[in-house]
Amino acid sequence: MDTGLVPLNELKEQSIERINAVQSQEDLNIIEKELFGRKSGFITLHMHSLRTLADSERRSRGGEINSIKSELENAIKSRRSFLEKKQMDSLSEEDLLDTTMNLPEEGHGHLHLIPEFISKVEEVFGRMGFDVAYGPEIETDEYNFDLLNFPKGHAARDMQDTFWVGDKDGEERVLRTHTSPVQIRYAKEHKPPFRMICPGKVYRKDADATHSPMFHQFEGMMIGKDISLKHLKGVMVTAMKELLSPDLDFRFRAGFFPFTEPSLEMDIKWQGDLSKSREGQWLEVAGCGMTHPNVLQNVGIDPDEWQGFAFGFGIERLLMIKHQIPNIRLFYLGDLRFLRQF
Ligand code: PHE
Repeated sequence: MDTGLVPLNELKEQSIERINAVQSQEDLNIIEKELFGRKSGFITLHMHSLRTLADSERRSRGGEINSIKSELENAIKSRRSFLEKKQMDSLSEEDLLDTTMNLPEEGHGHLHLIPEFISKVEEVFGRMGFDVAYGPEIETDEYNFDLLNFPKGHAARDMQDTFWVGDKDGEERVLRTHTSPVQIRYAKEHKPPFRMICPGKVYRKDADATHSPMFHQFEGMMIGKDISLKHLKGVMVTAMKELLSPDLDFRFRAGFFPFTEPSLEMDIKWQGDLSKSREGQWLEVAGCGMTHPNVLQNVGIDPDEWQGFAFGFGIERLLMIKHQIPNIRLFYLGDLRFLRQF
């Protein structure tokens, strides 16, 4: 019977050929519509033509149309995914999202001065063979004081005004007043010889232009067979020259810490004119000395066989000198006028 339609087999062959040759998704959509459009799609019209057939013929003809219909649908589906993939592959580099793209200068963030300096410290000491360690900010009385040779009730404990935070399991806890307990933790776990630094936050009950209740230190320790004050001075001065400036004005003077003997303090001269009142003044930047034999014994290192030094630098102090920052509070205010200068 002539329906005035393109015969099914011919329609199928022509259509598959066109589908497989089509180069864009838009053109594929057009073909799809020509075949399956609700009113005048070729396949749709073939389906409609079934109505005019007798029951028996309708069934076999219907089956034939359905199988060609699903063949064409599959061909369209696979061509569509081929074209999608081809389009993805052909996207040029510029069309892809570049997450490394530079932001405009305005609004471009950077690390805060303190963590930035800590990475520099880790790098400089890393080059001198120092390992980096970290320890808890809430310490036990034992690690913050006892093992560092501060006897209970000794006046030396008054050097570090302390925040006690109550006890746990019958043991007093304290916000660590210095990074020195990390020396103890590290030395208990490592066999000498070793060299390590440990940066971090510390807490003391003081506040003025150069003191804050929370500030940052980095500690260093080097233990070996014949480590002496000569090495201490060499390491500290080399690092400071690299971190601050090559023509640094520094001095060492005698000091006291229960965990070093002899003990020294390192001062650096304040330069620049931002803070006239400090011009030419010495600013204390570190405590240091030869590790006390009691401390070595406390961590299980034989003081007859091993010796070494330790130091602890105040990070804000160093940055104040380096950038002529007159007040320690500027570090913590988050004021963009300050932060943007670095
Ligand atoms: N922990 C001391 C302080 O915070 C500094 C120090 C460290 C001194 C290591 C000697 C050796 O004041």
